Amino acid sequence: MGRVEGKVAFVTGAARGQGRSHAVRLAEEGADIIAVDLCAQIDGVPYPMSVPEDLDETVRQVEALDRRIVARVADVRDVAGLAGAVADGLAELGRLDIVCANAGILGPYREIRDVGERVALFEQVVDVNLTGVFRTVEVAKQALIDSGGGGSVVITSSLAGLRAIGVRGGYTEAKHGLVGLARTYARELAPHMIRVNSIHPTNVATPMILNDETARAFLSGIEAPGEKDVERALSFLNLLPIPYVEARDISNAVLWLASDEARYVTGVALPVDAGAAIK
Ligand SMILES: NC(=O)c1ccc[n+]([C@@H]2O[C@H](COP(=O)([O-])OP(=O)(O)OC[C@H]3O[C@@H](n4cnc5c(N)ncnc54)[C@H](O)[C@@H]3O)[C@@H](O)[C@H]2O)c1
Repeated sequence: MGRVEGKVAFVTGAARGQGRSHAVRLAEEGADIIAVDLCAQIDGVPYPMSVPEDLDETVRQVEALDRRIVARVADVRDVAGLAGAVADGLAELGRLDIVCANAGILGPYREIRDVGERVALFEQVVDVNLTGVFRTVEVAKQALIDSGGGGSVVITSSLAGLRAIGVRGGYTEAKHGLVGLARTYARELAPHMIRVNSIHPTNVATPMILNDETARAFLSGIEAPGEKDVERALSFLNLLPIPYVEARDISNAVLWLASDEARYVTGVALPVDAGAAIK
C-alpha cells in the first residue's frame, strides 16, 4: 500500500524539475495526478522555460507507474485555465486530496536601471510566484473540501522565503509572502482537516539554476569558470558541504507532508535546505 494510495494530487509547474519529480514521487506511492504547466517562455525570465514535450514526458513517467494523469497546458496567472484543468481532472479522477503549488520563475539577473521596467518585472514575478499560488489554491480548495477526506496543500516557497539571500526583483518578496499565504490557508481550511504547509528548498538541481545564464550570474568576476566553480559558488549558501539538493529530496518532503504520516502538521514552514537557513 502506497503512502498516498488512492489520492489525487494537483501539481503546478509539473512539466519538469521539481514539479515533475513531485508528480512521479506521489504516483510511485499510489496517487493519480492532475498536472499543469505553462510550457512556454515568459519574457524577462533569463533561462529557457519548459516546452510541451516536457509535460508529455511527465505524463509518460506517471503512466509508466500505472497511475492516471490528466495534464493540461495552463498558466498560474489565468484562473479560468487553472479551474478548467482542475475540472477536467475531477471529471476523470473523481476527487482531489493534495495540492502542490510549485510553479515559479526567477526574474532577470542583470541590474535594471529603469524604474518602470523594474516595477513591471517585479509585478510579473509576484504574479506568478505569489498570486499564482493564491489562484492555484483558490481553484482547488472547494474540490478538496468536497472530497471529504481532509487534504494537504504544499506550497513551494524557497530558502529565499526565510532569508533575504540577494535574489531580487520580487522573488524573495513573493517567497516570503507565501509563508503568510500558507498560514492564512492553514487557519481557513483546518476545520475541514485540510493542512497547509510551505516548503523551503535551498538550491535544487533543476533547469531553473543549472543553466548558462545562472552560471554566468553566479560566476561574474571569475575568468573561464568550470563546473567546479559553479558547484563552489552554489555550496556557499549551504551549511552542509553540498552545492544543491536533488528534486527528489524535495519530493520526499512533499510526499511526507501529503501523507497521513504528517496528519497533524499544518501551518509549518519546512526548510529542506542543507542547513542554509541558519548559516
Ligand atoms: N531550483 C532551485 O534552486 C529552487 C530553490 C528554491 C525554490 N525553488 C522553487 O521551486 C519551484 C520549482 O522550480 P524548479 O526548480 O523545478 O524550476 P523549473 O524552472 O525547472 O520548473 C518550474 C516549472 O514551472 C513552470 N511555470 C513557470 N511559470 C509558470 C506559470 N506562469 N504557469 C504554469 N507553469 C509555470 C515552468 O514552465 C517549469 O516547468 C519554483 O517555485 C521555484 O521558485 C527552486
